[in-house]
Amino acid sequence: MNIHNASIKVSAVSPLQYPTDNLPEIAFAGRSNVGKSSFINKMLNRKGLARTSSTPGKTAQINFYNIDDCIYFVDLPGYGYAAVSKQEKKKWGLMMEEYLNTRPNLRHTFLLVDSRHKPSAEDVQMAEWIRYNFGNLIVIATKLDKLKNSQIEGNIEVVRKTLKLTKNDVLIPFSAEKGTGRDEAWEVIERII
Ligand code: GTP
Ligand code: MG
Repeated sequence: MNIHNASIKVSAVSPLQYPTDNLPEIAFAGRSNVGKSSFINKMLNRKGLARTSSTPGKTAQINFYNIDDCIYFVDLPGYGYAAVSKQEKKKWGLMMEEYLNTRPNLRHTFLLVDSRHKPSAEDVQMAEWIRYNFGNLIVIATKLDKLKNSQIEGNIEVVRKTLKLTKNDVLIPFSAEKGTGRDEAWEVIERII
């Protein structure tokens, strides 16, 4: 995939701000700090496009990235971050639900999970929602470079089992550091759009 232009279209907190040009969208969901923004940057080979941070909760709006006027990548706020207030969590939750449940342009939602850890109850819940809405799951297991080679197979198996993946689902081990899984992820995206 050869990208010429990738730019932020809008950071939305309300549906009134969503883009109106009717392009297909792929959203990226997952726990705070799992690597959603880093995934987007790596996919687009644009280092600082989506803002990343080692402080969880960096992405607090729904960010729409326009890619060559062909598709939007949608960076969602992360869930599961303990240190934000209840009120803040509720606000983010509602904002996400509003987007995920009402957006006709949304072609798929990828679920990002950290390859080092067993997916959380919230990940499982998100996986169920995605399966219900899109028929299959596309899971990106992030931060693969942080695993020892000897751990990879076992950890990936834990992700598969916990999310109850079937042969119709896709799981891509990914490293934003090394670029592992990038080509495979683009193939999947191209098939969707
Ligand atoms: P929120 O916006 O808070 O929901 O987080 P996010 O899911 O967008 O995570 P982000 O991309 O900001 O990454 C969080 C931290 O993990 C940053 O310090 C990244 O540099 C780091 N990180 C993300 N992906 C990788 C990866 O593949 N390998 C390594 N080693 N670090 C990564
Ligand atoms: Mg982010």
